[in-house]
Amino acid sequence: MQIFEKDGHKIYNGDALEILSNQIEDNSIDLIFVDPPYNIGKNFNGRKDKWETDKKYLDWSYFWIELLIKKLKSTGSLYIMTSTQFMPYYDIYLQDKINILSRIVWYYDSSGVQAKKYYGSMYEPILFCVKDKNNYTFNAENILVEAKTGSKRKLIDYRKNPPQLYNTEKIPGNVWEFPRVRYRMPEYEKHPTQKPIALLERIIKASSNEGDIILDPFSGTFTTSYVAKTLNRKSIGIEIDEDYTKIGLRRLSVLEKYNGEKLEKEIRTFETKKIIEQQTLTLFEPDGTQLYKTNQENINK
Ligand SMILES: C[S@@+](CC[C@H](N)C(=O)[O-])C[C@H]1O[C@@H](n2cnc3c(N)ncnc32)[C@H](O)[C@@H]1O
Repeated sequence: MQIFEKDGHKIYNGDALEILSNQIEDNSIDLIFVDPPYNIGKNFNGRKDKWETDKKYLDWSYFWIELLIKKLKSTGSLYIMTSTQFMPYYDIYLQDKINILSRIVWYYDSSGVQAKKYYGSMYEPILFCVKDKNNYTFNAENILVEAKTGSKRKLIDYRKNPPQLYNTEKIPGNVWEFPRVRYRMPEYEKHPTQKPIALLERIIKASSNEGDIILDPFSGTFTTSYVAKTLNRKSIGIEIDEDYTKIGLRRLSVLEKYNGEKLEKEIRTFETKKIIEQQTLTLFEPDGTQLYKTNQENINK
């Protein structure tokens, strides 16, 4: 296990179950976002996201769920994800341990693999839970979205006396539409299940305040810690894979170099093409006067 820390942001490279058991204080965390392996066979840099049996996956999950509940402050909130097929088990397991306030559907407009003979999966479920339903943070005013009835249709509510225009903003319901992170998006990192910044922004703005501590035990590309930093929260991120941890160290500006290697974002194929196109070719006469200058785009013509 390795620990890195800078300006209130801690990054652990190691097994979340061990680190949660030995390194994180009980009742110390304001908000937990947990996006574990889903047991659906993704490839996490060579680590297979598939347990021998479903029971083994669930037993493993229940072990860290128990730990996470212990780590949460009495006023804390927990957002928990998994695949559609395992969420019912998580839901039932959590029901007598914590208060589930919302069952959220994160919906997106395209599925990775297009199903041909069944209905392809276009959403991922998220449970929003709090320890104490009478005392928890929920900054509704910071996550308001457009209320179309009021803002577009400009309808008047005649049930009110005197009649009033409908509100133009509202608290989001439990179906959230955010695009998945695509290869060409600026936020893209090399990871098969990176979560969008926009999704984490809504969660962190709603369920924490500046200075609060946010924990993500399966950090991947460290989206949670990255957003926590931009919103002036503190963060603890845990990730077992060294390459993914390096993404976190870079995204959070914790280190510039790792074991002598400069931490840089990998150049994507379309960016390489752009760089080549931008490279200039300059021809000089033997006496040094410039004869010709062009870029690759013109050479290719
Ligand atoms: C679903 S991904 C998380 C993606 C992340 N939310 C993001 O936005 O990039 C799950 C991550 O858990 C990591 N992981 C798997 N087993 C782990 C363990 N025992 N301890 C810590 N991390 C683990 C995987 O390497 C993978 O990056």
